[in-house]
Amino acid sequence: MLSLKENLNLDKLPSHIAIIMDGNGRWAKTQGKPRVFGHKSGVTAVREVTEAAAELGIQFLTLYAFSTENWSRPSMEVNALMSLLVETVKREMATLNKNNIRLQAIGDLMRLPDKTRKALLDGIEMTKNNSRMTLVLALNYSSRWEIVEASKKIAEKVQNGELTISEIDSDVFSQNLTTKDIPDPELLIRTSGEHRISNYLLWQAAYAELYFTPVLWPDFRKEHFYTAILDYQNRERRFGKTSEQVAEV
Ligand code: FPP
Repeated sequence: MLSLKENLNLDKLPSHIAIIMDGNGRWAKTQGKPRVFGHKSGVTAVREVTEAAAELGIQFLTLYAFSTENWSRPSMEVNALMSLLVETVKREMATLNKNNIRLQAIGDLMRLPDKTRKALLDGIEMTKNNSRMTLVLALNYSSRWEIVEASKKIAEKVQNGELTISEIDSDVFSQNLTTKDIPDPELLIRTSGEHRISNYLLWQAAYAELYFTPVLWPDFRKEHFYTAILDYQNRERRFGKTSEQVAEV
């Protein structure tokens, strides 16, 4: 019998997969441990999925590591998450370079603690020439923030005379988002049984296939990732067209 991985059609892989890593807190609770233990255990899943995606030849993997709304969590949890990010980015740098993976970040990085921003910017700089896959961390990210920022940038360009109102279209808008050099995700995965988008890549995921799994993030392994991609490959992507029109292409 073919393994899950062997069942994948390598000619029909998404070029960009975005993930909402959810369920760390609940996972920790099942172990009778504090929430932070769930986040630490979630790093194993981050490593597994990054490795699986690079091995398959996925070009972009975007992970929702910290949302703008996450600041409202207890300060101990926020501080622990920020430290975990610093530690993880520093520790994984050699592995990222060895595997030719480029690190990028989207979100309001200016509002991150200095040490987190520094570790991140160092990581981005040290991996900038890698070309096998781009791992994008969404950090202090929210789509509504990003859309408002893009609107301000566009308004400024109109005010400066660089752009006219009639030139504003969806391409111009995309080019003013933090994801301007990243293709739209074709597949968006959320773990832990929640069925929400939670202010994540709202513009970019307009045509993404959504995949929800009850698996809690710290338990998410390569097999779960392959299962999500197989599910995606078995769907018909129509972009508003009829099935017959899609079959003609
Ligand atoms: C959601 O689970 C998870 C987060 C808010 C943080 C995700 C962070 C990591 C996996 C660790 C660091 C990541 C990188 C990329 C180095 P939750 O806390 O909302 O869980 P709950 O819904 O069960 O409470």
